[in-house]
Parts: sequence; C-alpha cells; structure tokens
Amino acid sequence: MSVTSVVGLQWGDEAKGKIVDLLTEQHDVVVRYQGGNNAGHTVRFAGKTYKLSLLPAGILREGITSVIASGVVINPKALLAEIDSIASQNGAMKGNLWISDRAHVIFPYHMQEEAVLEKRRKGEAIGTTMRGIGTCYRDKAGRTHAIRMGDLYYPENLKRHLAEIVDDKNLIIRALDPEAQPLDATAIFDEYQNYAAKLKPMVTDTNTLLHKALRDKKRILFEGAQGSLLDIDHGTFPYVTSSNSSGCGIHSGSGVPERVIDRMIGVVKAYTTRVGGGPFPTELDNEIGQHIRDVGHEYGTVTGRPRRCGWFDAVATGFGARISGVDCIAVMLLDVLSQLDEVMICDAYEIDGERTTDFPSHVSELAKAKPVLRKMPGWKTDITNVTRPGDLPKAARAYVDAISELLEAPVDIVSVGPDRERTIYMR
Ligand code: IMP
Repeated sequence: MSVTSVVGLQWGDEAKGKIVDLLTEQHDVVVRYQGGNNAGHTVRFAGKTYKLSLLPAGILREGITSVIASGVVINPKALLAEIDSIASQNGAMKGNLWISDRAHVIFPYHMQEEAVLEKRRKGEAIGTTMRGIGTCYRDKAGRTHAIRMGDLYYPENLKRHLAEIVDDKNLIIRALDPEAQPLDATAIFDEYQNYAAKLKPMVTDTNTLLHKALRDKKRILFEGAQGSLLDIDHGTFPYVTSSNSSGCGIHSGSGVPERVIDRMIGVVKAYTTRVGGGPFPTELDNEIGQHIRDVGHEYGTVTGRPRRCGWFDAVATGFGARISGVDCIAVMLLDVLSQLDEVMICDAYEIDGERTTDFPSHVSELAKAKPVLRKMPGWKTDITNVTRPGDLPKAARAYVDAISELLEAPVDIVSVGPDRERTIYMR
C-alpha cells in the first residue's frame, strides 16, 4: 500500500497519533492537511513521550519527509516553539520538514477576536481551543483579511496589508469588547518577519512537492487531525472545528486527489469522548463516565480540559465512517473498559419516539436523541498484554465484532495500551 490515510471517526482524540506513529516507518512522507495547533497528538518514541500539535508524526524519525500542507492554519510562533521542544528532547528534528506557502497564518488578532466572540456567546460558546483557528479560517474564506505563509516573504506588501488588517481588527474587537487592548501592526510585522526568516528554508509549494513524490512512487501517509464529527461541513455544526476534519479534507487540504489513496484507516475509541460544547447522546455524566475519564486519562492534550465521556455511539461513528469512506477500523483504548461489569453500544437513536440509525443533520435533533443501548457483558480481565486476536477474552472479542458489524468495516487493529507493543493486529 503506497498511500494511506488515518482519520478519526468521532469527535477527535481517538489516539490517531499511535496509529500514525506505527505506520510512519512504512512511509516516506507524512502529511498534515487541515487544522492547526488545536490538534494534539501524544506519541511515545524511544522511551520518551512527545506532544505534537502542528508537526506531523514523521518528524521524530530519520529519513522521513514531513509536510504541513496548504489546508493547515499555522501559528508560526507555536510552530517554532514545537520545533525547539522536539530539538531539546531529541537532539534535533530527525526528518525533513516542509511547510506550504499556501497555508494561512494565524496572527495575535485571531486569538483576541476568538476570545471576545466566545465570551459573548456565554452558555452557547463553541468551547474552542482558543488558538485562533476558526477566526483564521474565517479570514481565509473572507479573503480580504487573509495572509498566507508565502505572503510573509513580500515584506512591503505585507507591511501595508497588515496595517489595514490590524486597523479593522482593532475596530471590530473594541466594538465587541471596549476594554480590549488595541494591537500594534508594526510590532506584529516585526515579530512575524523574525518568524518568517527562521521558517524560510522550509517554506515551499507542497502541492508540487507531493505530486512529485507521487510520481516518484513515494509512500505517503496522510495524518488527519480532530475527527469526522467535527468536520465544518458534515459535523455537528456549529459545535465543530473550522476545517474538513473528515476524510473529505484530504484532497482540498493537500491538493492530492482522493483516488490515489489506497487505504483509508478510520480510528475510533472503544467508547466516545468529546471536548467543548454540543450534544452528545451517549454521554455518561455519572461514575462510569468518571471511571472512563480516570482510567483513559481523558484530559485534553492541548487545553488540559476534562473530556466528556460516554458509551460507544455507532450511529454517530457510523456516519463518520461513511463520510470518510473507510476501508478498515482501528479500535483504540479497549483496555480502558476492562474493569466494567457490562459495556454498552448505542446502535440506534430514539428521536420524538421514532427509532433511527441515521445521524441527524441538525444539532437540535441530535440534542433530542436518546441512545438505544445494546448491553454486552464486560470481560473483567487485564488485556494489556494480549498481542494475538485469539487471546482476547470472548466478551472483548464480541465487543470488537459488534463495532465492526455496526460500522460495516473490518477491524484491523485493536490497541490495548499506549506503547507500540500493546497492539493486536486482527487480520
Ligand atoms: P477549535 O478547533 O479550536 O475552533 O474548536 C472547535 C471545537 O473543536 C471545540 O469543541 C474543540 O474542543 C474541538 N477540537 C478542536 N481540536 C480538537 C482536537 O484535536 N481534539 C478534540 N477536539 C478538538
């Protein structure tokens, strides 16, 4: 298989980092194509734990080319800090890094604007990561106030454009929050010229680079961030992120056509989690939810927020699998459920007394959905040392088989612990 993609099928945090890391050594190029430093991947490598946010997982390995493609929004300050932190733990970045000149740039006003907007929404806040992701994508769509990586290298134009933008942003931000401190365009320009100089050797046309890699028969791995249910077009709008975080984003975010992808791996947790606002039909606001949170260490990698936890939702996840078009599934964190007497899978919703397996398109319908739960026996056995499918307890195997049946895709991988060895290859 030469072109593989790894996409989350739930609301993010499916532990995609581990799968990407496992697959990285079978690939030559690893590509991030959407989102920004709202993402958080924890990767264990050579006995150390790395928290990656913007950098593709390939960065830890020698000989791998990592690409931050055009659909990503880049906070250069955060990117440079991440590069420095990898260097301080790992000597230096092991692989090459290329950054798209078409990727849009996050500026301090994006964070400030987002903070003001979220504050004004009060109880209806989206619960964003406050990284300026949505406000940067908003400017990208609006075009007039957008700056791309490539623009950083045309300083005269940039200075003029930034002065106009910052003027407007100060007006908007102070209209919404009169106490907000105005931003200074010259200071921002100077700061960003400094970042631009440091990043310059890595900034290129990644579109051309990826097509050349395809022509040269390089093995490419696409690394999705967030999950399919947070997709701006298909997810639980407005409680979504601002990019196409389902498989739909690969083409638009990288310029590589979908038809070249040989294998699409959908990653799911053995249960469900969500951070931020929005309906969550299988949420467990009780001691079982707290148990899952504690055992699964369900706290945000980026923001540290406790994640909302609930049963596996096959209606929502099945929808994620369909829009992303998966060939197979990786079930992560199965060991987290090992101590429970019984486990549940939601295989339908009841909305206004009607049973359905269709995932509602409107958030108000989803808010009304009551989960129809399939009760299954727990396995009450430590499975963290299991490496062969035949050694899984019968109940755990039945649980995995139910996920496969409901998502209509084979489960190829089951993960029973964070380390690489804690992986069961099912086929
Ligand atoms: P934003 O991406 O910061 O705009 O946040 C929008 C929504 O997406 C919020 O509910 C966030 O919690 C969620 N979100 C963003 N990035 C991630 C992620 O990497 N994992 C899980 N949720 C995320």
